[in-house]
Amino acid sequence: MACWWAGWLLLLAEAGGACLEQGTLESWAQAAPRLGNASGFQVSSLQRRLPQGIIIGVRKGGTRALLEMLALHPQVAAARSEVHFFNREENYRRGLGWYRQQMPLSRPGQLTVEKTPGYFSSPRVPARVRALAPGMRLLLIVRDPVERLVSDYTQILHNRQARCKPYPPLEQLLVRGDRGLDTRYKPIQRSLYALHLARWLAAFPPAHIHVVDGGGLIREPLAELRRVEQFLGLAPRLGPDNFYFNQTKGFYCLQAGARQRCLDESKGRPHPPIAKLLLEQLCTYFSAHNEHFFSLVGRTFNWC
Ligand code: A3P
Repeated sequence: MACWWAGWLLLLAEAGGACLEQGTLESWAQAAPRLGNASGFQVSSLQRRLPQGIIIGVRKGGTRALLEMLALHPQVAAARSEVHFFNREENYRRGLGWYRQQMPLSRPGQLTVEKTPGYFSSPRVPARVRALAPGMRLLLIVRDPVERLVSDYTQILHNRQARCKPYPPLEQLLVRGDRGLDTRYKPIQRSLYALHLARWLAAFPPAHIHVVDGGGLIREPLAELRRVEQFLGLAPRLGPDNFYFNQTKGFYCLQAGARQRCLDESKGRPHPPIAKLLLEQLCTYFSAHNEHFFSLVGRTFNWC
């Protein structure tokens, strides 16, 4: 019975939770500049505009933290929920009018941003985004591929458990008997950053893709956000007062004036332990892919 309820709650959260979460984001971070007469803007100038920036991934890389932190900027209007326009056929077929409707109201001069981590590894998406806007600014937040994979597994496990569905232990999914790693496992595939990035680089010049260090965003969010502001051509408006470290959460949280909030409990979940030998196997497997990724982006990361 408990599981039945949990399943329903999860379904409700998935249907409306993102909106709720991001509704909070929109009203919380931007209500003041939008509604206050002090800024002198006209309500009639509020419109839904197609995005000029997209956070394309990676899933579990820190995409929600990046979006919410960016949304603290007064020149940014962030989409409420993950839109899945370019990667889901049923949405893509709905056309640009539908896509625009998913965007938040924005003032002239504000930059509309959406995030859909599923875009990064979806083969059709780069060409579709380019067809819409060759000048689109793309943000890619990456994280140690092994940590990302464990985070991905943890999320799937959590969702399955909430629906009373079984999901095998990670080691069982990763290892194929004595034949080594099962590299077909989706979370492994999603951690092959070079493979996916190559498709984006076939559609966009490197200058249109800004890579955010997910580890850096955890340790020192402001430094990463300053680089993002610069990439998006935004005035440097985010400052140390926008972030504070919450000991209970173990992460930086957001601050706007007197109001403070952390990301919800689905962000920053504890990960299951992973055997040392398997960890080494994974690190060995990813190392060549990581090197390839580093050469594509022209920088290195301190990953395993
Ligand atoms: P874990 O839950 O594995 O720790 P995404 O939003 O793309 O799903 O990414 C989720 C990850 O964002 C979390 O993974 C967490 O590590 C990371 N993250 C980065 N900054 C965070 C913050 N300030 N608060 C919570 N999680 C944050």
